[in-house]
Order: sequence, then structure tokens, then C-alpha cells
Amino acid sequence: MRIAVTGATSGIGRALAETLAARGDRVVLLCRDVAKMETLRVDLDAEAVRCDLADLASVREAADTIASGGPLHALVNNAGTYTPVREETPDGHERMFQVHVLGPFLLTTLLEPCLRASGEARVANLAGLYHRHGTLVLDDLDWRSRPWDAGAANADSQLHRVLFTFELAARWPWAHVNAVHPGAIRTSAQDAAPWFLRLMADTVLKPVFKPPEVGAHAVLTALESGGTGVWFRRTHPDVPHALAEDPRARRALWDAAETATR
Ligand SMILES: NC(=O)c1ccc[n+]([C@@H]2O[C@H](COP(=O)([O-])OP(=O)(O)OC[C@H]3O[C@@H](n4cnc5c(N)ncnc54)[C@H](OP(=O)(O)O)[C@@H]3O)[C@@H](O)[C@H]2O)c1
Repeated sequence: MRIAVTGATSGIGRALAETLAARGDRVVLLCRDVAKMETLRVDLDAEAVRCDLADLASVREAADTIASGGPLHALVNNAGTYTPVREETPDGHERMFQVHVLGPFLLTTLLEPCLRASGEARVANLAGLYHRHGTLVLDDLDWRSRPWDAGAANADSQLHRVLFTFELAARWPWAHVNAVHPGAIRTSAQDAAPWFLRLMADTVLKPVFKPPEVGAHAVLTALESGGTGVWFRRTHPDVPHALAEDPRARRALWDAAETATR
């Protein structure tokens, strides 16, 4: 199977790429850092394509390159970022919104023919438990009017990933499309957190945080469950935010993402 993984250079994405390569899948590493990507490509004997989700032109180029390599059986939208201050991408979007939502939306929709051609397409989107605290503010998805807050912007973008997943599952009945919370996983994701949270993660909360391989196992479960339109909390289906079951909300976000990535 040919399987593409975004954010494959560290944490859960890297552990997943290693697992897939070890079992004989043809992994397509999608990474923004070319030097790290090249080292991993050699280590895993994988394909590698530069893909910076904070740059929509890079996403378009990546989709073209992947498509030129033949059918794709699965796509894992894993890459994630956490900014302690509000940042805008060169495309003019709030960074977490673009990296978690617009970039994956564009990548996935551009890859439709390539995924369809595999005859057994699967998509897994990372979407943390924290999405349940998210809101859908359609007239301010880029946080220009609201006071920006890192936790709230992250929660919103995680909720958007769930809504995107459920809408994609409805629009692509020929594919298996699921979202997954990987569990509390100790990765470089916590490095951007305030110092006291990092300290807690490495002391009192240490037993709570699991290694990246555990997160990768959860992602594989969601990818290969055989179902579609499901949010997995680690390895089990669970109830997502109520908006996931609201087709009008899902469609409105889809339309907004389509307009923003045109
Ligand atoms: N860890 C957890 O407890 C947890 C919980 C819930 C959900 N998640 C989700 O799980 C996913 C993976 O997180 P992780 O913990 O493994 O984090 P991580 O170790 O920080 O890895 C994040 C990956 O995303 C890549 N990335 C960041 N910005 C990018 C961009 N603009 N374009 C392309 N790739 C980009 C990073 O690339 P570089 O190496 O170049 O930085 C890295 O490979 C994220 O979506 C996160 O929201 C994690």
C-alpha cells in the first residue's frame, strides 16, 4: 500500500512512518523541513515530498508530485503546530487554522483522483480530545476580530478537523474517512507549551504521557477500522463535539475552506 503521512519528521508522524515502512508499506513522507525529510527518506527507503502546510503553493506542488507517482491508498493528515503568539502565514491566515485545517483540506481534496484510483482509499485526520472545547466562528476563522488565545485557537482548529472529517466522509462514500485523538503523547508538541506545563509533563504527569508509538497505533486503528465518519479516542470510537453531526455547520466550514484555498 502507498500511504502518505504529513508531519513525518517527528513525534506521532515519525513513529507511524517507521511502523508502516517496517511492515512493507510504501510510505510517502510529507515534510516541511527538507534536511530532516531527506535523512528519514534514506533511513526508511521511502518516497519524500516537501509539503509546508503553511504555504498553499507548496501544498499544491506536493499534491501534483504525489499524483504523478500513481494511486495513493491512504493519507494521514497528522502534521500539527502550536504557536504561543498569534502568527500569520504568508497566505494571510492564522497559522494553526491553516496548518490544521486549510492546508490538509487543500491537500486532501487535490488528492481525490489519486486516492480514488487506489480503489480502497482511507483518510485519517488527527483531531485531539480538546476539540470538544472548540467553537465554530465562521465570520472570524482567522482570529482577526476576536482576542487571540493559543489554547482557544488550537481547540477551534481541532474542532474544524473533526467537522472536515465528518463532511469528507459524507462526500466521499467510496472512502474510509476517520478522525483520531492519539492520546496524551510526549512529543516535541509540548516544547512550545509554557514552562510550567512542560515541567508538569516531565514530572507529575509523566505517567500520563505515552510514547509516540502508542499514538501511531491509535492512528493506524482509525485508518484501518473499516468504518467511516468516526472519531476515535485512542483506539475506540467515541462521541465527538455535537457540531460534527450538524450538516449545515460542516458544509459552511467546507465552503469557507474552499473559498480560502481557491
Ligand atoms: N502529542 C499529543 O499529545 C497530541 C494530542 C492530541 C492531538 N495531537 C495531534 O497529533 C499530531 C502530531 O502531533 P505530535 O505530538 O506528534 O507533534 P510533533 O512531534 O510536534 O510533530 C508535528 C509534526 O508536524 C510538522 N509540521 C509542523 N508545522 C508544519 C507545517 N507548516 N507543514 C508541514 N508539517 C508541519 C512538524 O514538522 P517539523 O519537524 O518540521 O517541525 C512535525 O513533523 C498533531 O496534529 C497534533 O495536533 C497530538
